[in-house]
Amino acid sequence: MTRRLMQTLAGAAVFTALAGGVAAQDSKVADEIAKYREALADGNPADLFEVKGEGLWTEKRGPKNASLEQCDMGLGPGKLDGAYAALPRYFKDTGKVMDVESRLVHCMVTLQGFTQAEATRQWYSKPGKDSDIEALVTYIGAKSNGMKIAVPATHPEEAKMARMGEYIFYRRSGPQDFSCAICHGQEGKRIRLQELGNLTTKDGAGFAMKTWPSYRVSQGTVWTMQRRLIDCMRQARWPEPNYLADSIIALETYLQKTATGTVMETPGIKR
Ligand code: HEC
Repeated sequence: MTRRLMQTLAGAAVFTALAGGVAAQDSKVADEIAKYREALADGNPADLFEVKGEGLWTEKRGPKNASLEQCDMGLGPGKLDGAYAALPRYFKDTGKVMDVESRLVHCMVTLQGFTQAEATRQWYSKPGKDSDIEALVTYIGAKSNGMKIAVPATHPEEAKMARMGEYIFYRRSGPQDFSCAICHGQEGKRIRLQELGNLTTKDGAGFAMKTWPSYRVSQGTVWTMQRRLIDCMRQARWPEPNYLADSIIALETYLQKTATGTVMETPGIKR
């Protein structure tokens, strides 16, 4: 473990050096991103989040002084291997389709006794303020590494969410009349030099979804899928949804269904 951490720290130094290069030479961004990925293959800074997440999972916390070890992510209490790859899914105990983040928050509330507001206050990190959720989701995600995404959405509630997600994906709205599909519905589309990916095919959705949660070099932290999609809604100039909103979980269900069968490679690393 120590060796792995050392590699991670060395990797972090490399990407910081490379990041300067990217700003200076915009035309080489694509090459530089490929270089980051290579340089960091053995030392994704997300590894540090994973270690922290494991600690948070087993630590007794909250008013009930309980750990999260009995949290049921869909495969039974405490069973995390492959759980992320099979989310979002319908949960009988809440009567809702939940993604990894809404389920995690549910466990923090029911098992540890945090209020919803306490559990979600720091759902993403800000400079100098780490996010427990980022760390926990990285840990839970990594437990699906090497496993296939499996969200067939066969339960009627899941099927409904997948349909709703597909509807939102194609629906044009907002001041620019944008839809997700305008940016992510064709092969080979780019904004500046960033490839957008075609999220409507198994290959395209799989290529994207298998890598989340992901360390974002430009942001210096791990982003969860909730954060990715909320930020994309902002890019679409739509009103920003609340954290854990059904519209986000619907989009996730649609994208994971489309990506089903793709082998997870998480935590990923992105620009
Ligand atoms: C204005 C263009 C634009 C719109 C509209 C947009 N996105 Fe994005 N999206 C981006 C950009 C830019 C990225 C980052 C690409 C990168 O990191 O290389 C991105 C990244 C993503 C990713 C991660 C892709 C990956 O390869 O990891 C997903 C998933 C995604 N968007 C989904 C959506 C959804 C769902 C919507 C509709 C709510 C949407 N986007 C609307 C521009 C857009």
